[in-house]
Amino acid sequence: LVHVGYDDNLTLAERIAPLGQVYLEGDIDVNVIKAPVKTSAKARSGEEIYTTVCASCHASGILSAPKFGNKADWAPRVKRGIADLVKVAITGVGAMPPKGTCMNCSDDELTAAIEHMIK
Ligand code: HEC
Repeated sequence: LVHVGYDDNLTLAERIAPLGQVYLEGDIDVNVIKAPVKTSAKARSGEEIYTTVCASCHASGILSAPKFGNKADWAPRVKRGIADLVKVAITGVGAMPPKGTCMNCSDDELTAAIEHMIK
């Protein structure tokens, strides 16, 4: 008996087990799978969010991110209004990832981080 490409250490049940399972919409409650994104109980300061998350790109201006405290980089953006900047920061744009990768940041925390950067 020749079996090519099989791992002899697997049991028959393991060999013939399906590789995945398909669920159709309505079969299961998808909310059980989607783990809720926890926002921290206490709002963090804009400086804290900036330092721990945003600075990795916005301190150096890597990928042409507008630099921290750089008026020339921020002036045209600030003109559009803080509300619009927050909206774009949430969805992401170009090389700017959604929420700047801070998935547990609240909108208020993102706003504070942006206000800290454009100071
Ligand atoms: C992986 C790198 C990266 C990280 C991390 C990051 N940003 Fe950005 N961000 C960018 C880049 C690149 C742009 C420029 C995008 C463009 O204009 O095409 C940008 C642009 C922005 C803008 C301007 C958007 C606009 O409409 O012009 C805001 C506001 C912003 N980032 C906020 C944040 C905040 C707040 C954080 C932290 C929570 C953050 N970013 C983290 C890369 C990053």
